[in-house]
Amino acid sequence: MAMLPTKAKILHRLLQFRHTCFGSPSCGKAASSRLVLGIETSCDDTGAAVLDEAGKILGESLHSQKDVHLRTGGIIPTVAQQLHRENIERVVQEALERSNVDPSQLSAVATTVKPGLALSLGIGLEFSQRFVRQHNKPFIPIHHMEAHALTVRMLQPVAFPFLVLLVSGGHSLLAVARGVDDFLLLGHSLDEAPGDTLDKVARRLSLIKHPQCSTLSGGQAIELLAKDGDRTRFHFTTPMGQTYDCCFSFAGLRNQVTMAIMKKEAEEGKEQGTLLSCVNDIAAATQHTVASHLAKRTHRAILFCKANGLLPSCSPTLVLSGGVASNQYIRKALSIIAEATGLQLLCPPAKFCTDNGVMIAWNGVERLREGKGILPPNVDVCYEPKAPLGVDMTAEVKAAAIRLRSVRVKIPN
Ligand code: KG4
Ligand code: ZN
Repeated sequence: MAMLPTKAKILHRLLQFRHTCFGSPSCGKAASSRLVLGIETSCDDTGAAVLDEAGKILGESLHSQKDVHLRTGGIIPTVAQQLHRENIERVVQEALERSNVDPSQLSAVATTVKPGLALSLGIGLEFSQRFVRQHNKPFIPIHHMEAHALTVRMLQPVAFPFLVLLVSGGHSLLAVARGVDDFLLLGHSLDEAPGDTLDKVARRLSLIKHPQCSTLSGGQAIELLAKDGDRTRFHFTTPMGQTYDCCFSFAGLRNQVTMAIMKKEAEEGKEQGTLLSCVNDIAAATQHTVASHLAKRTHRAILFCKANGLLPSCSPTLVLSGGVASNQYIRKALSIIAEATGLQLLCPPAKFCTDNGVMIAWNGVERLREGKGILPPNVDVCYEPKAPLGVDMTAEVKAAAIRLRSVRVKIPN
């Protein structure tokens, strides 16, 4: 049935209203495409970026605290907070200047408000709320893990639903992304995250003293050293072999690695804090066990999705993202599982896997397009250090108790 002209007009106006954000009228770039400023401060990176609605990055700025935290032997929340405080204004200013965009041209500001370090989240949120009030712009609160999960859609068309494995310094989880704000959580870490484990192993090995590793994060250092290591010289048991779900655990692995390091220190007569001769082999064995654990849990998640029709039968997709996803060995392990189960594996380039303002701005764009979670500037928003992602399906996954057929994960270093 043809639409009545008046009805069509009303619909047109409604759509126009949805697409017009309050605040000053747009001009320049903003006239053809809505612009979003994204701000990230959930952990140890102060990031900001301006994106247009098509996902084009107009300008970005990132201040990493990695060097400071490497020197202090881990993230000290008060130090992270102070560094965010010192840098946020400059980082946002830089992103705007590099984009050649005036705040008045923005359609919204998107900021990470959960999950993350309370003191770090607080700085980004406080800055953003002041900014949106000053410039009378809508505010879009962002879930950090949702942003990691959806970044891939900025780079190429990836239709919902897809399976996503997010692995970083703060998280590891498996989820089905069904929409911009619609996720099914299949598994998460029961203790620490893989990036945290790699960082702690690197610290225990004193890799900061290694000439090739002094400026690298723990995960980067382990990956680099593992290239020249023999992983078969140490055997670490892959965690949770007798638990048939998709959750993760890395604390036990860290304990196994620490025991091996202590044994070697005793053998070589070395004090804790000095470099062992076998760091490459320990790095290779640790990296392999992390990769194997991630691959096995992901394999089970794929089988669960297939058994429950959670993924499309035509070109189902596995997305791998988060800081640890920049690891090529882990990517290779996941690609073997994806190939064996008929999924295509997509990984954003390393620069978009680690924390940045771009992924937050993109999440803002996705929400703006769908009109989801957009708040007027005067609404008070609280940050949430702990915030689960999506609907918790972990009990269903556990109840299904899917056994895996073995897939040979043979990867050259
Ligand atoms: O996503 P991200 O930037 O920050 C959050 O934790 O949210 O991830 C940082 C983590 C760190 O633990 C770092 O050691 C790890 O990602 N990482 C890596 C690699 N690059 C960074 N882990 C393994 N291999 C890498 N190449
Ligand atoms: Zn992250």
